[in-house]
Amino acid sequence: MSICRMQNRTSLVLRHYLNCRSNATAAKSLVAGEPKAPSMVTNVPGPKSTKLLQELNTIQMAGSVQLFGDYKRSLGNYLVDADGNVILDLFTQISSIPLGYNHPTLVEAVASPEAISAMINRPALGMFPGEEWPSKLKNVLLDVAPVGLKQVTTMACGSCSNENAYKGIFFWYRLKQRKEQGIDVDKIPFTQEDMDSCMVNQPPGAPKLALLSFKGAFHGRTFGALATTHSKPIHKLDVPSFDWPVASFPHYKYPLQDNVAENKKEDDRCLEQVESLIEDWKNKNMPVAGIVVEPIQSEGGDHHASPEFFQRLQHIAKKSGAALLIDEVQTGGGSTGKIWCHEHFNLDSPPDVVTFSKKMSTGGFFHTPEMRPKQSYRIFNTWMGDPSKLLVLETVMKVIKRDSLLQNASTTGSMTLKGLEELQSEFPHLLNAARGRGTFIAINCPTTRLRDDILSRLRNKGVQLGGCGDIAIRMRPSLVYQPHHVHIFLDKFREVLKETK
Ligand SMILES: Cc1ncc(COP(=O)(O)O)c(C=O)c1O
Repeated sequence: MSICRMQNRTSLVLRHYLNCRSNATAAKSLVAGEPKAPSMVTNVPGPKSTKLLQELNTIQMAGSVQLFGDYKRSLGNYLVDADGNVILDLFTQISSIPLGYNHPTLVEAVASPEAISAMINRPALGMFPGEEWPSKLKNVLLDVAPVGLKQVTTMACGSCSNENAYKGIFFWYRLKQRKEQGIDVDKIPFTQEDMDSCMVNQPPGAPKLALLSFKGAFHGRTFGALATTHSKPIHKLDVPSFDWPVASFPHYKYPLQDNVAENKKEDDRCLEQVESLIEDWKNKNMPVAGIVVEPIQSEGGDHHASPEFFQRLQHIAKKSGAALLIDEVQTGGGSTGKIWCHEHFNLDSPPDVVTFSKKMSTGGFFHTPEMRPKQSYRIFNTWMGDPSKLLVLETVMKVIKRDSLLQNASTTGSMTLKGLEELQSEFPHLLNAARGRGTFIAINCPTTRLRDDILSRLRNKGVQLGGCGDIAIRMRPSLVYQPHHVHIFLDKFREVLKETK
């Protein structure tokens, strides 16, 4: 069948699908046809999800599965599960679906011949990219790059983006060291000793270098990324790792305006630790080549740090000759009201590296020209991303601009946060420390048990949220989360809190 005929067929299916939904349109919804409210027919997981889970469990360890989705029937902010429950999804696949489910503009875009070709002819991008690849990178990714970062490498997921970005930092650091030793790196990039020793994982070819990360951080589960992940022991147990420094990340007291002096002391405490760990590792002959940090520490419990903390962290990195990598895998893509959360921090200069994935549809990292490897194949794998994901991102960014979704995240976020602050005043024994930027919002419960219980009862009423850290409830709605969804969420949340003994 030709691509054009396939496209016609896809359009018919699409039209039928959208027509079926149009009678349920909520007023002024950013996604036409979206349901007006959650509707639950079973508790979650319902009987169908439970049966599917048993089936999946015979094939793999599926203990983390919470429900099975019916993604063909899901729309906008509403996830339909296998049992027919229509759930207001404010967690969106661990913070990953930028425009909610089956956004009509996206459905239309992926029915184009270009998208069909991208999906079925996936190139090995490091060797055989399509002719449109350089202009796509420029027009889509560089168009939204953090200010000052004009180099980009795509990858498949968050962990592999960090993993490869870490390698880039080490290449940069070794090049700097060689230059400092007076080596003409253009003539002799590597010595024979470097080449022989790296093959048996020994220095100088496999050098003793470190990355500094933070307690509670999450940067992924591959070997290098895992060495900088410290959110939960279960992620790390039994895996050999590096002896790298781990500093405290600020844990603030809320409300911020009543705890300014104390929180400033917390910044000082953490930054002093960063400086002294860098010194300790230098004395161990394992210098810190880079500092890796999340703009909001997400998996670890939604810990925020002040713009001043990040400004001072960048100064420390520069002073000690280390690169600064900001991991925007979870925060990037618009939910904080800017595409990049670190752009709220007014840094003196761009970070050296910014990694992304999740809402950005494709993984990858932006970096300065200095972070670019001097030899090919050093940052490389078979796929190196996926052009079809860049097409999705292209449309996502168009919709973000067309529908002013960054502004929407700011206003809907403020409204939600205000509502949560009211709820924590009403139920101070159940909730505290409401915090957030845009719709990237969290609130704490007194215990893990209570947090998990509230999340599960809220889901049975039709609202899906996530947990993070030991006691936080986190919100990660899509960018089409609007004021009428805020009301539904807050009403259901209040019901659950009222019913909590
Ligand atoms: C900040 C951060 N970095 C990296 C990752 C790893 O991304 P992935 O799960 O796509 O490997 C995550 C995942 O949650 C994350 O939140």
